[in-house]
Amino acid sequence: MVRRLTVALAAGMITTISATAVVAQADVIKERQTLLKQFGDVTKPVGGMLRGNTAFDLATVQAALDAYAKNAKVLPTLFPEGSGTGDTEALPAIWQDKAKFDGLFGKLGTDAAAARVAITDEASFKANFPGVIRTCGTCHDSFRQKK
Ligand code: HEC
Repeated sequence: MVRRLTVALAAGMITTISATAVVAQADVIKERQTLLKQFGDVTKPVGGMLRGNTAFDLATVQAALDAYAKNAKVLPTLFPEGSGTGDTEALPAIWQDKAKFDGLFGKLGTDAAAARVAITDEASFKANFPGVIRTCGTCHDSFRQKK
């Protein structure tokens, strides 16, 4: 009886897992675009500060760096093999060199965490922030479709 129950539970779990996998596959493009769009949203006000159009605000800078570090950990898992077609700007090059692609997210996360510590005022912001977001362009140049 206990054994049957265990088997039934296990079977139920397998069904749940495979259903989740199907949904994840269908939604993975949307999911990664949401996180990347967030990169864009948090970077915009900071770009204004770099250009001197907006007043320096440490909390806004820190929020951007935190979002980079957080999302960069998850993003490599949101580009599974086979998710390069459909409503996406992801280039096939990603899956030809997934290690390099993942490495750029790794670099972004590491650089963001280091800058989070190094940036304490406007001068350290101007010295440390541009290097962090250089990786956005480096990755887009090789791995994202140009519009
Ligand atoms: C390791 C590669 C990589 C890095 C690093 C990276 N991106 Fe991207 N980004 C992409 C790819 C690939 C796409 C296209 C994703 C898709 O359409 O499926 C994209 C899409 C975007 C989008 C469009 C999202 C949407 O609405 O569909 C924005 C905005 C963006 N990135 C901003 C940034 C910013 C800002 C940074 C740096 C803080 C950054 N990205 C770092 C690879 C990267």
